[in-house]
Amino acid sequence: MKLSNTPVESIRIFGREIFIKRDDLLHPEFSGNKARKFAYFLAHDFPETTKLIGYGSPQANSLYSMSALAKIRGWHLDFYVDHIAAHIKTQTQGNYVAACENGANVIDLSERLDREGRTSEQYIKESVLINESNALFIPEGGRCEYAEFGIVQLAKEIIDWAVHTAQFDLTVFLPSGTGTTALFLNKHFIESGVDIRVLTCACVGGNDYLKQQFSELSQITSFYPEIVPLPKKYHFGNLYRECYDMWNSVSKQGIVFDLLYDPVGWLALEEYLKKGNKLSSILYLHQGGLLGNSSMLPRYKRKFG
Ligand SMILES: Cc1ncc(COP(=O)(O)O)c(C=O)c1O
Repeated sequence: MKLSNTPVESIRIFGREIFIKRDDLLHPEFSGNKARKFAYFLAHDFPETTKLIGYGSPQANSLYSMSALAKIRGWHLDFYVDHIAAHIKTQTQGNYVAACENGANVIDLSERLDREGRTSEQYIKESVLINESNALFIPEGGRCEYAEFGIVQLAKEIIDWAVHTAQFDLTVFLPSGTGTTALFLNKHFIESGVDIRVLTCACVGGNDYLKQQFSELSQITSFYPEIVPLPKKYHFGNLYRECYDMWNSVSKQGIVFDLLYDPVGWLALEEYLKKGNKLSSILYLHQGGLLGNSSMLPRYKRKFG
């Protein structure tokens, strides 16, 4: 099972060369950043654990990867969601379907009478974990200190590549959700004393939300990556013509990217460069997530042809 040491390739886009760290080539069950975020749970023993508990969207990559992790470790998985839309229940492929096939128990909180308006996280912390002494709780999107273990390995691979190919003054760009990957990468670059910095953009909830997410993982603000502004506000999971166009034009370079985070990431990077910001070498981190394309792409094709 390939869970580290991915190659770096390059494409020509925006009139220049951009390197791509191909974390999409990691094992499909942990494609991209889940392989890095969940590496800790595969590399360590958890003798007391019999169950994983998580929450998030029923379409999340993390639902599928947690189901794969649970299956490999012989654990149960209880995954709490706000609500499961009718169209998701009728899908034949995608994260939700694949997770259920792996045995995930997806719990729809909208059907719980004792929810009392609480968020999934509150509900789990207040009403679930007290009765689950053998469960391991993983916050949404794998945003937790355990993630640092695998992301440090990723940072080391990038540093080794940069040294090997004499990339001085390297910028690593990646689109963020919870910001876990961007923050721990930047932290490790700073702690290692190398001239590599992370630039990111907020694909979920805006810049303030992303900074708030950083602060849940570290109080040291100098570790926080720079957040690039977006050309306009994008609601996560919605369909936008320019996102589809950008996805098509980048994919023409021979590497397929995900349709949720990457189009926004590439648009933000393009805008940043257009504004005259000079970056000598750029490494774009491909974080996988391609299984989600099987539900996003038909939606895009229906809307834009
Ligand atoms: C494909 C892809 N890109 C980007 C991200 C955002 O990662 P993070 O939550 O670490 O910011 C995710 C979510 O985990 C993802 O699945």
